[in-house]
Amino acid sequence: MRARVAAWREAGESIAVVPTMGALHAGHLALVEAAMRDCDRTIVTIFVNPTQFGENEDLDAYPRTEDGDLAKLAELGADLAFIPALSEMYPHGFSTQVTVSGLTEGLCGHGRPAHFSGVATVVSKLFIQAQADRAYFGEKDYQQCLVVRRMARDLDIPTEVVAVPTVREADGLALSSRNAYLDAVQRAAAPALYRVLGEVAKRVAGGAAVAEVVDWGVAELEAAGFDKVDYIDVCDAATLEPLAEARAEAVTDRPARAFAAALLGTTRLIDNVAVG
Ligand code: PAF
Repeated sequence: MRARVAAWREAGESIAVVPTMGALHAGHLALVEAAMRDCDRTIVTIFVNPTQFGENEDLDAYPRTEDGDLAKLAELGADLAFIPALSEMYPHGFSTQVTVSGLTEGLCGHGRPAHFSGVATVVSKLFIQAQADRAYFGEKDYQQCLVVRRMARDLDIPTEVVAVPTVREADGLALSSRNAYLDAVQRAAAPALYRVLGEVAKRVAGGAAVAEVVDWGVAELEAAGFDKVDYIDVCDAATLEPLAEARAEAVTDRPARAFAAALLGTTRLIDNVAVG
């Protein structure tokens, strides 16, 4: 990859990288398309990163569809697929971790304490390996977008992080590789996450107290069939500070977002929408 990137740079071409864990769906392909529109060359990385999975999470079950992924990338015309082996990314003796504080403490960081350190570590490696001008991430993982942007700035990695709007099914469900785990009943319940978040955002923007709206949202998700709601929260869109005690005025002063993570069986779905 370094040799290819060096040749592209020599020719004056701009370079994009799209980090993924494979099992590519239309949401990933939208990232690749955005990258290809903006840059001369597009690299897609596929690596199921074990360090971002918790002990009881779905690392072993995570869908691996490499042949299909490569066919989709070839059809789109991406320039390079980088699929490193585990031993290439984490050779024997690997001892370094990248940890971003602040942004990683709330929302998904609360229930998945090691997750963002795993993400920041692997993404910093991928950025250094690819040496791209721009990197593309989906806004469904909004907290991840902010974390990798902070990491790149703090480590002086000159790769600009671009967040691409979430791609959704017709019924509103955000595309995710984990949707494949849902059975028919769970799949029917899943769009409630986006519907409830939209309503939470609307009520908060309309002046309702955040804490009351969050309680309403949790009850609504449970009534829709979700087995557990990890969180619903309304946060500052830049710092992710919770605005739970704030009234609408404070919320609408600065851009805010409503976030949720909830489980259908053992499948954990996340989503987020802008407030106002
Ligand atoms: O969003 C993902 O698929 C992963 O967290 C990423 C960014 C590829 C890092 O492993």
